[in-house]
Formats: sequence, structure tokens, C-alpha cells
Amino acid sequence: TDDAVILTETRGHVGLITLNRPKQLNALNDALMDALGDALKAFDADAAIGCIVVTGSDKAFAAGADITAMAQKTFPASYTEDFISRNWEAMMQIRKPVIAAVRGFALGGGCELAMMCDLIVAADNAQFGQPEIKLGIIPGAGGTQRLTRAVGKAKAMDLVLTGRMMDAQEAERSGLVARVVPLEGALDEAVAMAETIAGFSLPSVLMAKESVNRAFESPLAEGLRYERRLFQSLFATADQKEGMAAFLEKRKPLFTHR
Ligand code: HXC
Repeated sequence: TDDAVILTETRGHVGLITLNRPKQLNALNDALMDALGDALKAFDADAAIGCIVVTGSDKAFAAGADITAMAQKTFPASYTEDFISRNWEAMMQIRKPVIAAVRGFALGGGCELAMMCDLIVAADNAQFGQPEIKLGIIPGAGGTQRLTRAVGKAKAMDLVLTGRMMDAQEAERSGLVARVVPLEGALDEAVAMAETIAGFSLPSVLMAKESVNRAFESPLAEGLRYERRLFQSLFATADQKEGMAAFLEKRKPLFTHR
């Protein structure tokens, strides 16, 4: 039997998913994307989990979609099987925050997968790029869209048109990654960040994610109205009462996540 293409474990209240095709630098094939979608949905449904981390190896988060599997693909097959949205859009259904802990290469579909996550923690050896142009194609899982929103037109055009890589420092300067951390301990740092998030009241965490994402889908006035309604609704939660009482009583809150 084949080795598992992903590994899952829980650390405290964090669901950790490790992409596991190390010999192919975690090239993303259907088996891996199917398994990743299943694992994401399972953690999202698990009441003991408050935040999810997706990572690869020290050398590669993922070096892209699997070129071996794509090389002979035709347009009719690509179109009829809905390549690549069929098993790539599972991430969009996940309501809990998903952190990409990127070490080494995040290229092509690997960079796109990282950008589908809610935020990226990058090790100092991370390399980001959309090298599809070198293969005679373009990014197909959001690379021209999410990268442009994250880093702006100039940098996005530079990366997408030349196929060059950008290192962790440049990625942080450009707004693609939230934090850069030393490679040693990078995954632990991402998991610690996830554990912090998992400790907060779940309704507030889900609404925070939903509201930030709304900024990319709506005009400002609509986004502000949406945020205000969610904000107001949180006053219906037990955790709002607990969080504010704990502050006033100078103690730590004990959230019940409802
Ligand atoms: C299949 C891949 C792969 C990929 C690496 N490998 N990337 N196999 N698909 N995307 C394989 C190599 O063929 C090799 O297999 C092994 O992994 C190790 O890679 P090397 O090239 O020997 O390693 P290195 O010299 O360190 O170079 C690392 C690298 C290079 C710079 C990341 O592997 C590379 O350029 N990879 C391709 C990156 C890329 O073009 N990505 C975009 C793909 S298109 P063997 O058998 O020789 O050991 C894409 C489209 C997305 O993502 C569209 C929407 C999904």
C-alpha cells in the first residue's frame, strides 16, 4: 500500500495536517488534495479543535500541482472534470481559521494553497513563487487573484510573468505573510499561534474570520454593515459576558465557546 499522502494529528486544540509526499516535494495530486479536503472538513467538524495548521516538510510546503499528473492533460478532460476546482475548493468551506506554516518551497499550486489559508507563517527559508509561466500555463488556483490582492499589481505581475521566486523577507515586506520565524521551531510557533486562537471564544473567532474575508468580497459600506451586525450579535453569547466580566474582575476568562 502507498504511504499516506497526508498525516494528521492533534496538538491540544489544534488540528495539524502535514502534506506528506516528501520525495516529490509535496507535489499536489488528486489523492493528496482529496485527503487534504477530508482532513480539513473533519477538523472543522471536531468540537475539540479551534484552529487548523497546514504544513509540509522543512524543504517544501508544496512545489506545486503535480506536473507528472498534468503533463498529458487535455482541455476537454480538464474542463469536464472541473480541474482544479473539484478538490481544491474544500478549503473555502472551512469556517475555523487555517494557518499555513510554510517552510521551503511554496510554488505554483503550493503558493496558491498557502494563500487559500487564512494567514501564512513563513520560516526564514521559505520561497514563494508562481512559476507556471515557465511551463506554458498560468496559475489556476487563485495565483493571479489572491497574490494580486495580497501584494499588489506590481509584485504580482513581476512574479507571475517572470516566474521568479521571492524569499520570506520579501514576502513579509510585500504583505503576503503574517510573520517570518526561524526555520528551527517554525512549526511550533505556528502551532502556538493556532493554540492562542483556539483558546478564544469560537463564535467570535468564526465571525472574525468571516468578517475579514468579507473585506475581499464587498464594497466598504457593505463590509462595515456586515461587521457591525456580527459585532452586535456577539452580545448574545455567554462568552462575551464572561470575557468582559473576567477583564473587570482582573482574572483570566473561562470561555465556554458559546
Ligand atoms: C511533480 C515535482 C514537482 C512538481 C518537484 N518535483 N516539483 N514533481 N510536480 N510540481 C519532483 C522533481 O521532479 C524531483 O523528482 C523531486 O520532486 C525533487 O525535485 P528536484 O527538482 O530534484 O529538487 P531541487 O533541485 O531542489 O529543485 C526544487 C524546485 C524544483 C526548484 C522546487 O523541483 C521545481 O522547479 N519544481 C517545479 C516547480 C513548479 O513548476 N511548480 C508549479 C507547477 S504548476 P525526481 O523523481 O527527479 O527525484 C502548478 C499549477 C497550479 O502548480 C495550477 C492550479 C492547481
